[in-house]
Amino acid sequence: MSRFAYVNGRYLPFRDARVHVEDRGCQFSDAVYEVCEVRGGRLIDERRHLARLNRSLDQMRIPMPMSPRALGVVLREVVAKNRIRYGLVYLQISRGVARRDLAFPSPSVAPTIVATARPLNRVRNEALAATGVAVVSMPDNRWGRVDIKSVGLLPNVLARQAAIDRGAHEAWFVDSEGRVTEGASANAFIVTADGNLITRHADHAILQGITRAVVFEVLKAQGLTVEERAFTLAEAYAAREAFVTSATQIVMPVVTIDGHTVGDGKPGPVATALRREFHRFAEAA
Ligand code: PDD
Repeated sequence: MSRFAYVNGRYLPFRDARVHVEDRGCQFSDAVYEVCEVRGGRLIDERRHLARLNRSLDQMRIPMPMSPRALGVVLREVVAKNRIRYGLVYLQISRGVARRDLAFPSPSVAPTIVATARPLNRVRNEALAATGVAVVSMPDNRWGRVDIKSVGLLPNVLARQAAIDRGAHEAWFVDSEGRVTEGASANAFIVTADGNLITRHADHAILQGITRAVVFEVLKAQGLTVEERAFTLAEAYAAREAFVTSATQIVMPVVTIDGHTVGDGKPGPVATALRREFHRFAEAA
């Protein structure tokens, strides 16, 4: 089946889709991105993802190139053209193309907008969720503003690969005080032995996940509370349950951390219930 990508106003055959060699996204990671789940051909939580995109652009002082509504039309068109029922849509906006110079281009240039979509393997994802995944910890060596969803993901790339090399699915970053920040591409949660659900507070040291925010709503509806605070690796090892959240994994149970079995080594009831209920609370459009 032919694939299409959106590049600066045009829907191009995938093989012809490219950006300029002097795009600032390529040279400086001077770009932001979003990933939305696609389910039943509909975008999940588009409104929140585009609001976070707006914030990331604002923090990087890149002008929003078109309205969230118009961006939504582009994303939907990319999903439709690629006939995605279950998968993801990716949107990236860079500061644009200019002669290489660290300072912002003056006069300013038009941002570069790229959108792609691809299917995800539902059977594989459900099988992973049914058994749970392994994570390994590593020092958080990222910059101090990972709340901005920039494409500068080199530490995440290296951490994820190191996790895979060690037979794990995901890396958990740990700050200099021994506290878990988040995963290489997901937010981290634990349920302590006393049943307290904990995830790190949303400061500049984590990405404020959209899935994380929707999970909070599911919990609220169930009359459960979440404690937003930093937790240590030791607390994670002793946890009854652990899981990660992201747009492409939704709620993914974690069953080992650095080889320590979490709880009874099976996906726990909190993670399982959140995964089951999630899409009743997420917006689909
Ligand atoms: N990653 N933390 C990091 C570092 C992430 O990269 C992501 C998402 C999240 C979860 O955010 P959300 O719930 O909004 O997806 C947390 C995306 C999926 C990615 O880079 O592919």
